[in-house]
Amino acid sequence: MQSNPAQSNPAQSDAAQSTGLLANPPVDGRELIRFDKVTKRFGDNTVLDRLDFSVDSGKHVTLIGPSGSGKTTILRLLMTLARPDEGTIRVGGEYLTHEERGGKLVRAGEKHVREVRKNIGMVFQQFNLFPNMKVLRNITEAPVTVLGLSRDEAEQRARELLDLVGLSEHVDKYPTQLSGGQQQRVAIARALAMRPQVLLLDEVTSALDPELVAGVLDVLRDIARTTDITMLCVTHEMNFARDISDQVLMFDAGRVIESGPPEKIFSEPEQERTREFLSAVL
Ligand SMILES: Nc1ncnc2c1ncn2[C@@H]1O[C@H](COP(=O)(O)OP(=O)(O)OP(=O)(O)O)[C@@H](O)[C@H]1O
Ligand SMILES: [Mg+2]
Repeated sequence: MQSNPAQSNPAQSDAAQSTGLLANPPVDGRELIRFDKVTKRFGDNTVLDRLDFSVDSGKHVTLIGPSGSGKTTILRLLMTLARPDEGTIRVGGEYLTHEERGGKLVRAGEKHVREVRKNIGMVFQQFNLFPNMKVLRNITEAPVTVLGLSRDEAEQRARELLDLVGLSEHVDKYPTQLSGGQQQRVAIARALAMRPQVLLLDEVTSALDPELVAGVLDVLRDIARTTDITMLCVTHEMNFARDISDQVLMFDAGRVIESGPPEKIFSEPEQERTREFLSAVL
């Protein structure tokens, strides 16, 4: 990992430990996510073309590539907001949108999908908080209704997570009373409250005013440094990607055209397409 300890806030790291985030399954390098020949089409548009890739448990992987190359589609497939047309996706060894029945692989029912999806949390570009709920309730709602935690238990964990993201004094506010950066930090706490094994981050700072970006990225750096959560991240913040990533995947036209550690992809890319892309965004 390329994290820089000097950029992290030690108080937040303590909070991360007290939340029990480190109680997630230990990093053992096992494959957590696997895409096998995944094809996704929208009409005539083949967005993902027999895509193969995998992410090991505990790793931080960043997806880069031009607009329309299918990055968001990959995260939406993992969140089961869309289903692949062909191919399979496995999370923790379990098929995500398929089930094995009688030795055959069939389309999974809703119950199976809900179970596997519990391992996955996502933070979106537009925070998507529940506007009618105060901050605390935004974070406790899913742990209570989906995981069956008691309200007390969920609230205690929510307060610890709000401490982690530096928002302890805002528990009783509504989302509209917060800045964009604060709302996004609530959304991060809300995703972590479900104790996901993997956190999906889709351009989570793109909708923010520039002066609010650093605070959100610092929180994510801290989470990357102090927890075992696997992170799959789409970002245009290349310095951030360089800091936190174990691996960078360069996408073009629905395929991974190049992958490797950030120092290699950012400094010595092999593909002309990667060089072109990086010179446009760096
Ligand atoms: N629901 C949809 N219906 C039709 N086409 C879609 C849909 N979602 C995505 N697409 C198309 O799929 C392609 C990939 O979109 P996707 O959002 O995954 O790209 P992206 O790499 O995330 O791009 P960006 O960097 O602009 O966010 C685009 O051509 C897009 O128009
Ligand atoms: Mg996108």
